[in-house]
Amino acid sequence: MRIITCDTYEELSKKAAKIVASQITLKPDSVLGLATGSTPVGMYSALAKLCKRGELDFSEVKTFNLDEYYPISKANKQSYDYFMRKNLFSKINIKNENVHIPNGETTDPKKECEDYEKQIKASGGIDLQVLGIGQNGHIGFNEPDASLNSYTHLANLSENTISANSRFFDTPSEVPKQAMTMGISTILNAKKIILLASGANKRRVVSELINGGINTSIPATMLKTHPDVTLICDKDAYIGAKLGIDIGGTNIKVAVIDSDKVVYKCHFKTGATEEKILSSLIEKIKSINASFNITTVGIGTPGIIKNGKVTSANLPFSDTPLQSIIAKETGLCTTVDNDANCAALGEVVFGNTKDCENIVLVTLGTGIGGGIIMHRQILHSNNNMGEIGHFVIQAENGRPCKCGQHGCWEQYCSMTAFIKDAKQLALENPDSILFGMIKNDKLSGKDIFKAIDCGCEVAQKVFDRYVRYLALGINSLVNIFGPDAVVLAGGVTEQGDKLLNPLKRLIKNDIRIEISDLQNDAGALGAAML
Ligand code: PGA
Repeated sequence: MRIITCDTYEELSKKAAKIVASQITLKPDSVLGLATGSTPVGMYSALAKLCKRGELDFSEVKTFNLDEYYPISKANKQSYDYFMRKNLFSKINIKNENVHIPNGETTDPKKECEDYEKQIKASGGIDLQVLGIGQNGHIGFNEPDASLNSYTHLANLSENTISANSRFFDTPSEVPKQAMTMGISTILNAKKIILLASGANKRRVVSELINGGINTSIPATMLKTHPDVTLICDKDAYIGAKLGIDIGGTNIKVAVIDSDKVVYKCHFKTGATEEKILSSLIEKIKSINASFNITTVGIGTPGIIKNGKVTSANLPFSDTPLQSIIAKETGLCTTVDNDANCAALGEVVFGNTKDCENIVLVTLGTGIGGGIIMHRQILHSNNNMGEIGHFVIQAENGRPCKCGQHGCWEQYCSMTAFIKDAKQLALENPDSILFGMIKNDKLSGKDIFKAIDCGCEVAQKVFDRYVRYLALGINSLVNIFGPDAVVLAGGVTEQGDKLLNPLKRLIKNDIRIEISDLQNDAGALGAAML
């Protein structure tokens, strides 16, 4: 199930309308399954506007509504027939004969249901089904447990539904006690399904739908067996906390985000074996879930991730089904992605580039890592991608790299390379300040900058060359991805303007270069937003 979260009900309505509109544009004679209730009203109004502006044509579209009260007269303002004509059909160019709603005036509801099912089949089946969700998890009038009939049928409404729907009637006693409804199989036979959920009264059921298993007490969970379901919810319906985890070689970092705010952070040591890492993760997630109402778990890990399975050179993971193990053991909806991708997502959601649509994150550490964000989403492929440390910037006599190539960027601009270069030049210049800084055969990044501050020309030379190579790589990334900003992270960026000012002079097109204000926190924060 795909999940789209929207800030507001208006946004939800527009997104849902866009999906329906695309369906009609792609297939003008689409068969739509439509829902009633308060949730799709905004979507219908957006569709009506598109039609009025001549941007959408319903002339060949056929519709089948999910359900209708029984018995009810079409003239009754609470009938779904009346509702659909008022909210949609009277405002669009749909042909009357193409509209189908179970007839609440029939004297033979059983036959009406059977005929309805036949009509759906005869139309070629539903291309796109729009659904709402009841507070008790019903879809259509498929109520929990007892009445999970497969095809269109007459259903008894539950007390919960009668009470929820009594807001439309003068008294609860006027709410019909039965309805004709498409069955679960009718719904699941649709090629595509969008499920809309809005408002805090749907929060509990949405959380159970996302995190729970498939069970008849929440009929909507049956949708989990369908290959193409998109849940679109507004913030009120989907406000549970998000847990983000960043697995590093030394520490595992954890962040809990609730309503866009970080409400909890911690870290613990990374276990030495696969078993230890997994058991510590499961234990931590369970204990955090007991304190916070966690809706989703996102995990960032080094390595290559395919279908939730991780293989990493830096961790004891080899084809480890991390996603399915965590989801199964914790019962929470879990997503796994590469750690650098998560950090990039963290930057664009929480960092000083949160105003950007497209960024490239470059982490200058032991190697060079990075993530690419396009339109506020991680840029993915089916293969390993975003290994920006491994594009070649020195074609001739390039330094050998562990990846097998020569001249990779990280051989010139990682922190490791910077220090190695500085040490080599210091040893060649034993009269330099930088040479004097070598202690126990060791030199740190900070030592190099200290030497520069003391006027050391050798240290300055190393740094100038480092910045030139850094600019070379960044300019190439800018050429390829055209980001709004490039974000730099890692130890060397602690130098702030000392790094930024000379670098910016070498960057093309005045592209924005930022130093990450999140640094090591970006991974867990981004993982939470997966
Ligand atoms: P609502 O109803 O959109 O009015 O919340 C949804 C449903 O009961 O299916």
